[in-house]
Amino acid sequence: MVSKKQKYRQLAQIAGEAKKQAYAPYSDFRVGAALLTKDGRVFTGCNIENSSYSLTICAERTAAFKAVSEGARDFVAIAIASDEKGFTPPCGACRQVLLDLAGNVDFVMTNSKNELKIVKLKSLLPKAFTPTNLKLNRR
Ligand code: THU
Repeated sequence: MVSKKQKYRQLAQIAGEAKKQAYAPYSDFRVGAALLTKDGRVFTGCNIENSSYSLTICAERTAAFKAVSEGARDFVAIAIASDEKGFTPPCGACRQVLLDLAGNVDFVMTNSKNELKIVKLKSLLPKAFTPTNLKLNRR
């Protein structure tokens, strides 16, 4: 039996691998993400920047959009990796997008010592705008 911690450690490692594909010539801040589905599939993403800066997309959203575009709808956790010493939290835009698409998943942050910090996505976005505000009952 693989423990949750072991599973998330593996997910964090995959996020670290995905980081290698990051296209970040403007910020030089490379990020990788790995999104785990309930049936055990993993969708990866990296940040992809643009010379028109605001068109940049974060690693987490790349992973989420890849997953949804391939039919995945049920998620368990997302891991994020960067080159920073400390834990890199998800940006506000990614919190919102993930909450809508992935729900209250575990958010797994890593640091350079390979330690994990696991938080529930909802705790990162209190009083969030959700589909229920549109009177939709998606999650
Ligand atoms: N970035 C991510 O990929 N994910 C985050 O949650 C935070 C920020 C990227 C966007 C940009 O390419 C670079 O990091 C610096 O902000």
